Amino acid sequence: MRRKLIAGNWKMNLTYKESEKLAKEITAKIEQKELNKVDVLLCPTFVSLGIVNKTIKDNDIKLGAQNISYENNGAFTGEVSAEILKSAGCEYVIIGHSERRSYFHESNAVINKKIKKAIEFALKPVFCVGESLIEREDEIYEGIIEKQITEGLTGIDAEQISEIVIAYEPVWAIGTGLNATPDQASQIHSFIRKVIQKLYNEKTANEILILYGGSVNEKNSAEMLSAEGIDGALIGGASLKSDDFAMIVKKAAQIK
Ligand code: PGA
Repeated sequence: MRRKLIAGNWKMNLTYKESEKLAKEITAKIEQKELNKVDVLLCPTFVSLGIVNKTIKDNDIKLGAQNISYENNGAFTGEVSAEILKSAGCEYVIIGHSERRSYFHESNAVINKKIKKAIEFALKPVFCVGESLIEREDEIYEGIIEKQITEGLTGIDAEQISEIVIAYEPVWAIGTGLNATPDQASQIHSFIRKVIQKLYNEKTANEILILYGGSVNEKNSAEMLSAEGIDGALIGGASLKSDDFAMIVKKAAQIK
């Protein structure tokens, strides 16, 4: 049985104080009975990990980072290591987000190194894949996603893959207000499971969590989260508003 995961990706938003305020509001608005049904994850900036951790620590809400270094430690100015993320209370880390792929030129090979480093330090990667608008229009999206998964997971064994969450985020739907229809998303989620089955086995394919991301909000979330094979959401814009984020969690907890 796959348990739903609702993740907020705060991206490069919110000061230290604002992050604390949002974490406090979210903690107050999400009920324990909802947390008994769904997992909730907050991913603030590196700077705010500590204060958000402190704010949510008596709660079942989980903490994640938005990026990780593939190096262990040392002279890598501006980077943050797995060990440092663990020490700040992180359980998860987003890896391979399309914004990192496109603005910071992260290749599948770099993403693969980051996934391996996260697993080595018992951090759960939220591994993002997804096609651009051109790739969708050219109908080459399945090949693109398969390549992202195959190269991103090179050298990860069947046991390690159980620690990984995949997030399908069509790039054309991120922050644009456009989103894939539940059918389009379900179809890709099922395609991703087939790729995982090919790389690993049927059990792994059935067990792996696959989130949908891209303009999920409190209005469309119930329909998206009820669609076949969608195990949760990675939410950007709507995760910055405590009412909206708490409503998405509430709806997710109501899904049978
Ligand atoms: P969005 O972002 O919800 O603002 O579209 C999603 C994401 O990039 O994770």
